Amino acid sequence: MSPRAKRTILVTGGAGFIGSCLIKLWLRTDPDVSIINYDKLTYCGDLSRLKELRAERRYRFVRGDVADAAAVERIVRGCDGIVHVAAETHVDRSLLEGRAFFEANTIGTYNLIEAARRSGVRRMLLVSTDEVYGSRDKGSFTERDPLNPTSPYSISKAAADLLATRYAGSIGVDCVVTRGSNTYGPYQYPEKVIPLFVSNALHDRPLPLYGDGRQVRNWIHVEDHCRGILTAYRKGKAGEVYNVSSPDSLRNIDLTRRILRILGKPETLVRRVTDRIGHDRRYAIRPDKLRALGWRTRRAFPEGLRETVLWYRDHEAWWRRIKEKSEEFKRYYARAYAGRLMKAAQGGR
Ligand code: TYD
Repeated sequence: MSPRAKRTILVTGGAGFIGSCLIKLWLRTDPDVSIINYDKLTYCGDLSRLKELRAERRYRFVRGDVADAAAVERIVRGCDGIVHVAAETHVDRSLLEGRAFFEANTIGTYNLIEAARRSGVRRMLLVSTDEVYGSRDKGSFTERDPLNPTSPYSISKAAADLLATRYAGSIGVDCVVTRGSNTYGPYQYPEKVIPLFVSNALHDRPLPLYGDGRQVRNWIHVEDHCRGILTAYRKGKAGEVYNVSSPDSLRNIDLTRRILRILGKPETLVRRVTDRIGHDRRYAIRPDKLRALGWRTRRAFPEGLRETVLWYRDHEAWWRRIKEKSEEFKRYYARAYAGRLMKAAQGGR
């Protein structure tokens, strides 16, 4: 660690899609910070996302699990702050097997809050999700709305969110929560809809669109999301929640068409497949509270999506290593999609 660094921040899940972007952004914009990246390296963790930090003296990687209370206690000691990004995030996986979600997301958050209390950490931030509010047909949620999660994923995050907003404060831990919308950008694990559809389309494979494709998601670029996390960490009030979203909401079918248009691929690649169980129809949140702290999104969706799609086209080696070489990915894809794609090919739903 460099002698210049004045604060040490623990970022959990820093080998993931959002965590790695956050670490790079933070080190780039704040010369007084040192970062410890604590990550279990599960199926979607990948240190190649951080390869540009190889020579960075203010950065250190430690492999470990947030669900391991003793290890968490040791790693938190000596840190000034914690940004807790580590999580199991994929809804479809949580519908197949939810246990790992409660271990990582709920127990992991509990362990960090308890360790923060004992070591006197100055501030902790939990990266939560808009999915804790559940679905709504019209209008948008503010931070004061009740939580109404439906999947094992969103329920495990809602429990973590309540620990951070209700429990942490009562034991004297300064904790802030951000609830982000669907995030996109480079280096996202190719099980998520944008990298999955782009990479399938590039190889002329079907794009498995769930149900009628009219579900609405709000899309925020990963750098805008990370700048939102940093703003809340620096300027947010203890015990408060900050929604992080963009002005760009669209239906999955329209997102799919945009991707195909950018790649010059035909719409015949779209396969309507069996819907996700309990598929939330529409997510919508208002980020006014974070905007009042001076944060704004910078990437408009059409440019951000185009840039992202072209990034996957130009970084095929990165996602091919996962989609074609990872036995775990292949097993998951077969389990989650084989039946769906077969039914769709037979014209069923
Ligand atoms: P996803 O990227 O899994 O994020 P989340 O479930 O957290 O919103 O999915 C985004 C949307 O895309 C969601 O409405 C489900 C839909 N979807 C499909 O239609 N097909 C797919 O193969 C996947 C992965 C998602």
